[in-house]
Amino acid sequence: MKAAPGNMDPSSKRYIYRVNKEENRKELKHVRIDESNVQEVAKDAGVSASKVKKGKKILDLPKKKYYRQRAHSNPFSDHQLEYPECPADMDWARLYPGFVDSATGKLSREVTIADIGCGFGGLMIDLSPAFPQELILGMEIRVQVTNYVEDRIIALRTNHAREQQYQNINVLRGNAMKFLPNFFHKAQLNKMFFCFPDPHFKQRKHKARIVTSTLLSEYAYVLKEGGVVYTITDVEDLHNWMVSHLEQHPLFKRLSKEWEQNDKCVEIMTNATEEGKKVARKQGAKYIACFERLPDPEII
Ligand SMILES: C[S@@+](CC[C@H](N)C(=O)[O-])C[C@H]1O[C@@H](n2cnc3c(N)ncnc32)[C@H](O)[C@@H]1O
Repeated sequence: MKAAPGNMDPSSKRYIYRVNKEENRKELKHVRIDESNVQEVAKDAGVSASKVKKGKKILDLPKKKYYRQRAHSNPFSDHQLEYPECPADMDWARLYPGFVDSATGKLSREVTIADIGCGFGGLMIDLSPAFPQELILGMEIRVQVTNYVEDRIIALRTNHAREQQYQNINVLRGNAMKFLPNFFHKAQLNKMFFCFPDPHFKQRKHKARIVTSTLLSEYAYVLKEGGVVYTITDVEDLHNWMVSHLEQHPLFKRLSKEWEQNDKCVEIMTNATEEGKKVARKQGAKYIACFERLPDPEII
């Protein structure tokens, strides 16, 4: 067993749970899980043979209480993050083994939907069946939250091995404010979601907001023409901030309320995320704004 991190008691339930999960995660996060190997996968995850019955839920979903972490992570500090030097160096096949072409050993498609600051992953889980042919990536800066999402995806893939569901979603630990163009090439994405981003209320902290003029140029770079930036928040001031920055940017144009009403992603993002559910429980307001990525202007 490893040394307990920080001041965690190595005999505590939380420590033991985390160590076990970490071992399972290392084994399973890059495995292609389907009906042919689901029994083996369950065994690797420490599930007793009697529980492994075809068509039944086999793995328990991870428990959030064991993944607690400070609510905020400083987006300006170096978190010893791993990132590729350029998008071509990124090994996406490891994240989506169900989409690897067995003849070539290569991934049959690219990531086209990104959930920035995905938190506990609720949005991706609801987008997955709505876009079964698109690869969806959550990017999350907090380690334990990323671990939770990975464990959640392993459990869902195992429990739905027969139907081959949840193969098209995965999560990466990363700082979306720093390294996005290292992961995605120009015009790769169809959709980017910013759901309930950290509000950074104080004026001196506004520079830490995930929508700024500089970052919008990076988002425009990775989005294809006609691609969409989705934003939702319960903080009116942050909503106004995001709208005004997006409206001032030459490569984005706001989509109408009528468009929003007819778009299935707006409905999903309004209801699927963990923060959105919290806001709904408190009967708080949700402010939505969606923007289309405009064509690059002609250079004369
Ligand atoms: C308030 S939570 C919202 C989570 C999720 N989108 C939801 O609606 O439930 C904001 C999330 O963004 C993550 N985050 C903040 N800055 C980030 C960054 N620069 N890159 C990636 N994730 C970030 C935080 O760790 C946190 O999990």
